[in-house]
Amino acid sequence: MATFVDTKKLAALLQVSEETAQAVVGGDVSALIEEAPEAVAEQANAEMAAFLQKHKTTLYHADFLTSQALADESIDLIVTSPPYNVGIEYSTHDDAHEYDAYLSFSEKWLRQAYRVSRPDGRLCMNIPLDKNKGGQQSVCADVTSIAKKIGWQYHATIVWNEGNISRRTAWGSWMSASAPFVIAPVEVIVVLYKERWKKTRKPNATNDITRQEFMAWTNGMWVFNGESKKRIGHPAPFPRELPRRCIKLFSFVGDTVLDPFAGSGTTLIEAHENNRAGIGFEIAVEYCELAKQRLEAL
Ligand SMILES: C[S@@+](CC[C@H](N)C(=O)[O-])C[C@H]1O[C@@H](n2cnc3c(N)ncnc32)[C@H](O)[C@@H]1O
Repeated sequence: MATFVDTKKLAALLQVSEETAQAVVGGDVSALIEEAPEAVAEQANAEMAAFLQKHKTTLYHADFLTSQALADESIDLIVTSPPYNVGIEYSTHDDAHEYDAYLSFSEKWLRQAYRVSRPDGRLCMNIPLDKNKGGQQSVCADVTSIAKKIGWQYHATIVWNEGNISRRTAWGSWMSASAPFVIAPVEVIVVLYKERWKKTRKPNATNDITRQEFMAWTNGMWVFNGESKKRIGHPAPFPRELPRRCIKLFSFVGDTVLDPFAGSGTTLIEAHENNRAGIGFEIAVEYCELAKQRLEAL
C-alpha cells in the first residue's frame, strides 16, 4: 500500500530543505546527512544570540539545560528558583512530572550550573522544603543530595517565611490521629558553592552591604512577603527582596550573577540595580518579553 508523505512537514521536522526531504522519502539519505548539521548549527547560533543585551544585562531565550552560550567557570553567583513541579501552568514548561523525572531534570540543570560556575562560585537555590500535593516528598533534602553528588558543596539553608501565604485548606484527617497533614508555610534557599567558600576578590571589587543588612541577613530565618502573580504577570515570581539579599550578601560589586530560570527577570533587575552583570535564561518567549519590559522600565 502506498503511503502519502507530506514532504513540507517532513522538511520542517528535520530542519532541512524540501528537496532533501523528498530524497529521504525516495530512500536517499545522503543529502540529509550533509544538510542536517548545518541546520543544527543554525539553531545553535540562534540560541547563542541574546534576546536582550543592554548595559551589563543579557537574557537568552533558550533552554538552560542544553545551552552552550556560557563558557565554563564564568559565573560568580547563581540565584534562581527552578520550576517546583507542583502543577503550575507555565506557558512552555510542563510542571507536573513524576517525581523521579523531576529529580532527573534537577540533576541536569545542577550539572550545567556547576560547569559554568567559577571555582569560588556560589549557588542560591530557592526550592520548596517539601511537597504535599500528589504524595509527600522531601524535595529540599533530595535536590540537595543530587547537588552534592554532582560536586556542589553545602554551606547553609536559609528558611524563608512568606508572611502572605494563602490560607490552609488541607488538614488531612481533621482532629483525628488517623492521617493529619503537617505543612510548614515556608520555602528554603539552599546555599552551595563549587570548590571553596572563601571568595577571591577581583581587583577593585567592593562590598556594598550595610552593617544592619549583614547582621539581619546572616540570620538564616528570612521573613518577607511573597510576590503577587497578578501584579507581575508571571505564574511564580519571587519578590525582589530575595535576589537582592542573595546578591548583596554573596557577591561583590561588579560580579556576574546568573539566573538559569529567569521568568519575569527579577534576579536580572536586582543584579542591574546593585551594579552586577546579570545573565538570564528563559525557555518561554512570553516571559522573555515580560522580563525585557520590566528591565526597560527601570
Ligand atoms: C519558578 S519560575 C522563575 C520565576 C522567577 N524567579 C521570577 O521571579 O519571575 C521558573 C521559570 O523557569 C522557566 N523554565 C522552565 N524550564 C526551563 C529551561 N529548561 N530553561 C530555561 N527556563 C526554563 C519557566 O518558563 C519559568 O518561567
